[in-house]
Amino acid sequence: MITSAPIGVFDSGIGGLSVWNELVREIPGESVIYVADSANAPYGTKSRSFITARSSAISNFLIDHGCKIIVVACNTATGAAITALRKEFDIPFIGVEPAVKPAALASMTGHIGVLATAQTFKGEHFKRSIKLYSHTVEVHERAGTGLVELIESGRMDSAETKELLKQYLIPMVEKGIDQLVLGCTHYPFLIPIIREILPAGINVIDPAPAVARQTKKVLEINGGLNGVSAVSRYQFYTTGSPENLSLILNQLTSSDHSVTHADIF
Ligand code: DGL
Repeated sequence: MITSAPIGVFDSGIGGLSVWNELVREIPGESVIYVADSANAPYGTKSRSFITARSSAISNFLIDHGCKIIVVACNTATGAAITALRKEFDIPFIGVEPAVKPAALASMTGHIGVLATAQTFKGEHFKRSIKLYSHTVEVHERAGTGLVELIESGRMDSAETKELLKQYLIPMVEKGIDQLVLGCTHYPFLIPIIREILPAGINVIDPAPAVARQTKKVLEINGGLNGVSAVSRYQFYTTGSPENLSLILNQLTSSDHSVTHADIF
């Protein structure tokens, strides 16, 4: 593994920036190439074969750009495609899964909520973790239909977003959840609104910090970690229009990053 090579990160859109943000905090010496497949978002309503084909094309693009490891910063693509990606390519892949385990272990009420895309709930990874923990806690699943579209179109602070979140979260609150798992990397951008809706005391779990720590660990094991003093370079590509990605990026980092359009087939 070439230590100075970049880390590749991709998502159906801007959601994976919640993971990117933790990665640059956890491993500051690393360069990162981010791909948002915004022309094809949302993935959550698409078929498994479509998501696998997109994930494979984007991984090829990232490997052509020299990436040493790829972070699939998308629960939906992890569930649908990571097994196929690990077979197809010989670099390490890190995935993102709904954090059912920490939620189950932390729950005092015995009820946890999971907000994710419809496709994530169908994935093998999710089904496996539910099987492991459903004897200790009751898991209340809800597909966040429409939320990714609102975030991708820059309407994350809208009344419509708040209404949808209320519709999805209040029934879980009524069931007595004390842990809410955010099972889609787009949703951490909604945490301020989610906190307005949820009563105090419900813990909201974003898996991004754990994903960043796992990436660091896998790089260390493979001798691929770049020194903290190295100069890192961040590049951003989108298959859609660069505006929304730039907007979120500038909010996250309060510095200007240019975003390049790329057609990836
Ligand atoms: N951000 C993604 C996830 O974590 C994808 C959501 C979507 O495109 O539907 O699942």
